[in-house]
Amino acid sequence: MPDIVAIRDLGAHHGQTVTVRGWLAGRRNGGKIVFLTLRDGTGICQGVVEARQTEAFAAADALPRESSLVVTGTVRPDARATGGCELAVESLQILHAAADFPITPKPHGIEFLMEHRHLWLRSRRPTAILRIRHTVIQACRRFFDDRGFTLIDTPILSPGAGEDAQTLFPVDYFGETVFLTQTGQLYLESACLALGKVYCFGPTFRAEKSKTRRHLTEFWMIEPEVAFAELDDVIALAEGMVCACVEAVLAKHEADLALLGRDPAPLRRVQAPFPRLTYSAAAERLRSAETRRQLEGELARDRAQLQQWVDRGVALEQQLQQARKVWEQDKLQAELHVLREDIEDLERDVQNRPKHMDLAAAFEWGKDLGGSDETILSRQFDRPVFVTHYPAVAKAFYMKRDADDPRVVCNMDLLAPEGYGEIIGGSQREDRLDALEAAMREKGLTPEDYNWYLDLRRYGSVPHGGFGLGIERTLTWICGLKHVRETIPFPRTLGRIYP
Ligand code: 4AD
Ligand code: MG
Repeated sequence: MPDIVAIRDLGAHHGQTVTVRGWLAGRRNGGKIVFLTLRDGTGICQGVVEARQTEAFAAADALPRESSLVVTGTVRPDARATGGCELAVESLQILHAAADFPITPKPHGIEFLMEHRHLWLRSRRPTAILRIRHTVIQACRRFFDDRGFTLIDTPILSPGAGEDAQTLFPVDYFGETVFLTQTGQLYLESACLALGKVYCFGPTFRAEKSKTRRHLTEFWMIEPEVAFAELDDVIALAEGMVCACVEAVLAKHEADLALLGRDPAPLRRVQAPFPRLTYSAAAERLRSAETRRQLEGELARDRAQLQQWVDRGVALEQQLQQARKVWEQDKLQAELHVLREDIEDLERDVQNRPKHMDLAAAFEWGKDLGGSDETILSRQFDRPVFVTHYPAVAKAFYMKRDADDPRVVCNMDLLAPEGYGEIIGGSQREDRLDALEAAMREKGLTPEDYNWYLDLRRYGSVPHGGFGLGIERTLTWICGLKHVRETIPFPRTLGRIYP
């Protein structure tokens, strides 16, 4: 058998006879020729089987989509083909002839696709996103590895809350109730007093009862923790890491971003320094007449856009009724499907907008920023923006009180631009034993339950801090998606734990 070549590398084998192993992504019969769309996980190429290859032709002619096969043929240049070449098939071995594949080239609703996520993963869009996910994770890890951080694997089973006690998943641990971890942070703090600069990367769990575009119940978080770091150091670290991630994606995934319809221009603007504003300034901004005017302008533009799309829909439907050719009907139907989804989303958005505008106008100091507040703020900047110094009442017990204004803590959230909102939460940690105990009691926590954590303030306490970046929210932004659910191979949400 000739050498097995990855489809991605076919271009280096012009004129040679090679073997490709993979799956049949599509097939088109053109009389005396069958065109096969082959994919092998590294790329996609066209295989051409001519009728004179009688055996291969017979096998290819009726082969169901997603059958697995081994194909041998000659690589020939073809400027029109993806990858710049095609495979003139000489022999074809079917490994498994697939049953009727449920996902067809016709458009499907998101619920159907999610129900078939295990098969949907084979499509171009999911594979593009998963490749970008890999790059983002790799870039984050490299960023810390290159800076002398030690990777610490923090536990997933945890005796208590690390964040909001309302969102804990209980687990029966030999008769005792323990919880799935919400964050590796507390353990990481202990490790940073041992190793200086540490990070963890793992799954975290939040029993969030919110059915939003931003919430998963299981998500992956990368968290660094640094001894002797103060808030400014934490901010600089987060800024550097986000720039490194975006840079890596831009360098490697031009084609994937294009496939997702993601305009790379806003990503190219992601350069340090990111703007910063305090929570109090953000609150004022939300309430300001200027913001109100801006939002009213946006709403008017969205309403006009909606009307345009609705008109376009009517025109497409008329064309569809008159279309005689099947391929023409398919094309129009696909376009209509996408348009209808866009209309539905924008309609919902336009409907909610007045409510969100009122929420912003009446924003009260002391509340955490809501999803819609973050959206409004993050649309006002052309790159990620840090919001710092939130009210202590709105944030977790472990954040350090600000020396100048004890109502606020030394923390930051990083909001991704274009309306995406929070992708990072972080802070300097409260390093004084008495202040930490007091903060715990204020939040209804029992300091005795956290005795080991308090030990870190009893034995050589130092200023320290860190942050957590949610991989899926970051990907939603970088890939320009509407919903977080497509950024993880098998999403777990309020309404989904299958497959
Ligand atoms: O802001 P959070 O809750 O911060 C922490 O957990 C800190 N202990 C991190 C630290 O300082 N070491 O969560 C951090 C990030 C958020 O900014 C968001 O990106 C992501 O985790 N996140 C979620 N992503 C998807 N679904 C959810 N339900 C999420 N909750 C938080
Ligand atoms: Mg947060």
